[in-house]
Amino acid sequence: MIIVANSEAGAGIEQAVDILKSGRHGLDALETALNRVEEDPKVRSVGYGGWPNLIGEMEFDAGVMDGTTRRTGAVGALRGVVHAVSVARRVMSDLNHEMLVGEGACRFASESGFTPQPTLYPDSKKVWWDKLARMLSPEEQAKFPDMPLAPLNSAITDPEKVRDTSVFLTIDSHKGIHAATSTSGWAWKYPGRLGDSPIVGAGFYADSRYGAAACTHTGEMTMRAGTCRTIVLAMKLGYSLDDAVKIAVDELRDLETGYLDGVVLHALDAHGNHKVVNFRCRETIRYWYWDETLTKPEKREAETLKD
Ligand code: GLY
Repeated sequence: MIIVANSEAGAGIEQAVDILKSGRHGLDALETALNRVEEDPKVRSVGYGGWPNLIGEMEFDAGVMDGTTRRTGAVGALRGVVHAVSVARRVMSDLNHEMLVGEGACRFASESGFTPQPTLYPDSKKVWWDKLARMLSPEEQAKFPDMPLAPLNSAITDPEKVRDTSVFLTIDSHKGIHAATSTSGWAWKYPGRLGDSPIVGAGFYADSRYGAAACTHTGEMTMRAGTCRTIVLAMKLGYSLDDAVKIAVDELRDLETGYLDGVVLHALDAHGNHKVVNFRCRETIRYWYWDETLTKPEKREAETLKD
């Protein structure tokens, strides 16, 4: 059994280990762990502690993949429910669809028994408006948001490095390999923007035969490169974990236009090897790791790639 999770996963990692040890399905462990992360206001990129979109509304993205069935469930731009990963899992278990977004996702959450709740953390609201107020004239502030938002989008997101996510990968006691993600997405994103976290193949992928991958940071790049599917497909084609990650990084490196920034790639193979690499993020990147040889999860430093 193994768990690889990104640095934001601290609130849930120990519970994930306990559930894995009890022999339950790996997605039970990942969902429960992500729920703890989603509830934790100290995590400033996921769930209740996350950042709102450009008009001050929380929109959550999340995804799950069962690597044995290769079923996925995802929600995008979900409002009013902090436990986005649980709604994503219900998409997988209850519908003949793989993804719901916007109003449909909210409707499905309500039908599935999720109670609407306040999702905008007061400190996030303050930071959101303070930043906007510095950018808008008094006249613009008075009519906001009844104005074109597109000009604000790049001006606001460029200096903000608030693009994290929480991602978990596991090999469970049944040798099932699974992935799950949850995020509030980029701070000050254009309303309706989806990142890579709900996009299977971009922000996450799992196949119990070969391995799994999940990414954090710049979803606008991993969506274009199909990063997580690239890693798992390369392993299917016989490449080692190291080479599979290198192929995916090379694809990111080849992008020359559009919004380009850092990406963190988390991956594991079916033999129990794992690899976490920092591609172009300027800060030191850490991640959580646990396997059966460890008494408790460890925080480790990701390998930083030379550009
Ligand atoms: N990787 C998170 C996002 O792009 O929203």
